[in-house]
Amino acid sequence: MTLAPSTDADWTAMALLGGTAFGEIGHPDSLAAWRTMVPDGGALVVRDGDDVVGQCFYLNLSLTVSGGAVLPTAGISFVAVAPTHRRRGILRMMYTELHRRIADAGLPIAALTASEGGIYGRFGYGPATGKQLITVDRRFAEFHASVSDPGGVRLVKPTEHRDVFAEIYDRWRLQTPGGLQRPSALWDDLLADRENTRDGCSELFAFVHPDGYVLYRVHGNDPMTIRIWELVAATTDAQVALWRALLGMDLMEKVNIWTHPDDVLPQLLTNPRLVRVTNSTDDLWLRIMDIPAALEARGYQEDLDVVLQVADGGRFALQIRDGRARCTPTDAPADVALDLDVLGSLYLGGYRAEGFATANRLRSNDSALIRRLGGAFAGEVPAVLGYGF
Ligand SMILES: CC(C)(COP(=O)(O)OP(=O)(O)OC[C@H]1O[C@@H](n2cnc3c(N)ncnc32)[C@H](O)[C@@H]1OP(=O)(O)O)[C@@H](O)C(=O)NCCC(=O)NCCS
Repeated sequence: MTLAPSTDADWTAMALLGGTAFGEIGHPDSLAAWRTMVPDGGALVVRDGDDVVGQCFYLNLSLTVSGGAVLPTAGISFVAVAPTHRRRGILRMMYTELHRRIADAGLPIAALTASEGGIYGRFGYGPATGKQLITVDRRFAEFHASVSDPGGVRLVKPTEHRDVFAEIYDRWRLQTPGGLQRPSALWDDLLADRENTRDGCSELFAFVHPDGYVLYRVHGNDPMTIRIWELVAATTDAQVALWRALLGMDLMEKVNIWTHPDDVLPQLLTNPRLVRVTNSTDDLWLRIMDIPAALEARGYQEDLDVVLQVADGGRFALQIRDGRARCTPTDAPADVALDLDVLGSLYLGGYRAEGFATANRLRSNDSALIRRLGGAFAGEVPAVLGYGF
C-alpha cells in the first residue's frame, strides 16, 4: 500500500469511499465547497494497487481561542478507511503524515470532530467543547416576568439575508472560543438547502434580529417540531428575542436544538424542567501542535507560575500575568505532568484540570496548584464550536 497526496483524479473515488464510510453520498457541489479550504498537499490517499482504500484531508480553519485571538488551525476531516482494509494501520499511517505536514505548515493547532470517542486520544487529541441536544415543550413554556422582551425579530427568506447572517455570525465567532471563520463557499453550501441535507424536515426558515438569527426546519406533521439548525446571537438581547419568537410558534409542539452545556434557556423559563437534555456528546477535539505558540496566544483568568511536563510534547515554564502567558522550554523540575490530549481538552476552557487530576491524567503533588491551574485556564465565555466539519 502506498500513501501519497491526492490528485484531482482521485476525488471521484474519494467521494465514493467517504460516502461508503459515512453512509451517505454528499452532493458534488458540497464536496467542492469544502475542497476550497484544503491547502495544496493537505489531502492524502492510501492506494492498494489502483484502488483508494484510505483518505483524509485537512482544512485551513481560523479558530477563536479564549481571550479572542484567532489561530490558524488544521481541521482534519473526510477520514475513511475501506472496510476491506480496516485495522491494518492505515489510519495511523495517514495521521503520522498529516501531523508532519501540519507541523511543517506552522499550524499551532490540529482539530477534528470525532465519529467515535475511542479513536483519537491515542493521537494526542482531547475533547475541547461539548454539546447537548435539548428539547422544550413550548406549549407550557413561560418566561420569567423579569426576562426582558427586546423584540426586533423579523421573519425572512434565508437566501435573501445571507450577508446579514454572515456579518452577525462573524461578530459572534470572534467573541466565542471555538468559533470558526466561515468562508463564503460554506455559506453557499448551507443556504443551498439541498433536499439531502434536510434529514426528513422542511426547507429552511429564518428569523433575524439586528444582533442574531436562527435557521430552523420543521419536522413531522401532527405534532410538528422545530429543529434549530443554527442559532447565533451576538448579544443577550438577541438571544432572548429569538427564543421568545421560537417559543411563540403556536402550532409547534416542541423545539429541539443542539447547544452548549451552559446554555441559559432553563434560567429564562418559570419551569426550567421543560428544557430536557435528550442527548449529549463531545464536539470539537484539539491537538496542540505548537505548545508555546498556542499557550501564549490565549488569555487567562488568573496569574500562575508552573512548569508543565507534557507527554510527547516537552517541558515548559508557563508564567501568566494579567491574563497573558509566557511559555518557554525549560529543564527545571516539573510541577505538573499531563498528557497531550489533556492539554487539548483544557485549552478552550471547556474542561477543568481538576477532573483530569482525579483520573490521574494530570499529576501534581500540589493540589492547590491544580486548582489554580483550573482557574487560570477556565473560560470567561463558554466554548462553542462554530460549525461541524
Ligand atoms: C475509524 C477508521 C478510520 C480506522 O481506520 P483503521 O485504518 O482501521 O485504523 P488503524 O488500523 O490505523 O488503527 C489505528 C489505531 O486506532 C485504533 N482504532 C481504530 N479504529 C478504532 C475505533 N473505531 N475505536 C477505537 N480504536 C480504534 C486501532 O486499534 C489502532 O490502535 P493502536 O495503533 O494504538 O493499536 C475506519 O474504521 C473508518 O474508516 N471508519 C468509518 C469512518 C470513520 O469513522 N472515520 C473517522 C471520521 S472522524
